[in-house]
Amino acid sequence: MLTEEQNRQLTRVGSGTPMGELLRRYWHPIAGVAEFDGEDRIRPVRLFGEDLVLYRDKSGVFGLVDRRCPHRRADLAYGFVEQCGLRCNYHGWRFDADGRCLEQPYEDVANPTGRFRDKIRIASYPVAVKAGMVWAYMGPAPAPLLPDWEPFSWKNGFVQVVLAEIPCNWLQCQENSIDPVHFEWMHMNWGRRLRAPDSAHGPRHLAVAFDEFDHGFVYRRHREDLGEAHGMWTVGRVCLWPNAFFLGDHFEYRVPIDDENTLSVAWMFNRVPTESEPFVQETIPAWRGPIADPATGKWISSHVMNQDFVAWVGQGRIADRTKENLGTSDRGIGLLRRRFTSEMKKVADGEDPKGVLRDPQANRRIPLPTMHREVLTGGLPLAQVKAHPVFGAHLDRFVFQAGQPAEVWRDFRRAMGLPPDVAPNEAENAF
Ligand code: FES
Ligand SMILES: [Fe+2]
Repeated sequence: MLTEEQNRQLTRVGSGTPMGELLRRYWHPIAGVAEFDGEDRIRPVRLFGEDLVLYRDKSGVFGLVDRRCPHRRADLAYGFVEQCGLRCNYHGWRFDADGRCLEQPYEDVANPTGRFRDKIRIASYPVAVKAGMVWAYMGPAPAPLLPDWEPFSWKNGFVQVVLAEIPCNWLQCQENSIDPVHFEWMHMNWGRRLRAPDSAHGPRHLAVAFDEFDHGFVYRRHREDLGEAHGMWTVGRVCLWPNAFFLGDHFEYRVPIDDENTLSVAWMFNRVPTESEPFVQETIPAWRGPIADPATGKWISSHVMNQDFVAWVGQGRIADRTKENLGTSDRGIGLLRRRFTSEMKKVADGEDPKGVLRDPQANRRIPLPTMHREVLTGGLPLAQVKAHPVFGAHLDRFVFQAGQPAEVWRDFRRAMGLPPDVAPNEAENAF
């Protein structure tokens, strides 16, 4: 249980707040690169309570700038991209990705020597592209390095980037990254019950363990059917500092839109069977899934991450942690909160917080604890993928999030060496 003040400090992310200042010390994924491949190369984004515009100009450069034009505040989400930079649709002022004003068409004619534009800047943030995602850094200069996690350079994988906007505070999403027991109940037992009302409960957890390392926490769980030699207990999963989850075959990022909304960005890797090697993916698809069913108005509960979303939004826009009661299963939550508190203090004292990377030598294919590493990096023949207790189910259906576009499903099936026109088997239970 927290005091109201502790809860406020851990959750609020606006400019100048302790948590906002801490999280701004890291790069965050904010979109899929493929979302900007077509004609539509500009979209409004809200991050850490700031209204911004993300665009990709005709030369391919991404820019992230204030949504309001510094001339007379027109909405730059309706601007148009140029060879270099973004032009406001109201009077044509043009800005580059560094925030410089490059053109003021009428001023440049009427007062060409005035150089008014040299005095104008628009707020802008550094943007980078990696692993099919667009990343932003909103903290003070100099920006640290964008982490080069090893899975981002794994070969022979079909990757997709999956996004959703979740109407709740980011911290309840991230606390889910260090919550081992919810798998048993939310995904296994509830998942089974949703499909068959009389289904029996699955195997129980007998023990959970938590360890901290440079890039977050590892949690391990001992399930009664799997024993202590299983990767769930020997390797575990990673609550990736500060706001992500790494589960071996995918990352889930929880990026604050503002205090009451979070952008979920998932990077998903499927190793192709050895018969399909070499597989080189031309473009990493990116898509956004719905979280509510328009027919019923209820949250979608058919896919793994949608089930998590149900839990997170159910905790309220900002969970009231003065009313919770933490048990033994929640020990990791306490570790995470205490680490956030100490790192907020470090930032206030002018130090780099946990996990900030500045040494290029140390930022090369950083390995993370990875269950099924041999399968993900070395591959298996198709028959063995089909029989695999985890990856087998992934061949028949995209289990993680609802709304996968049909063309992404077909491309995935082709990559896996399977007939592309077989519909996903939505009746199948992943657990
Ligand atoms: S308001 Fe943008 S150019 Fe005038
Ligand atoms: Fe979950």
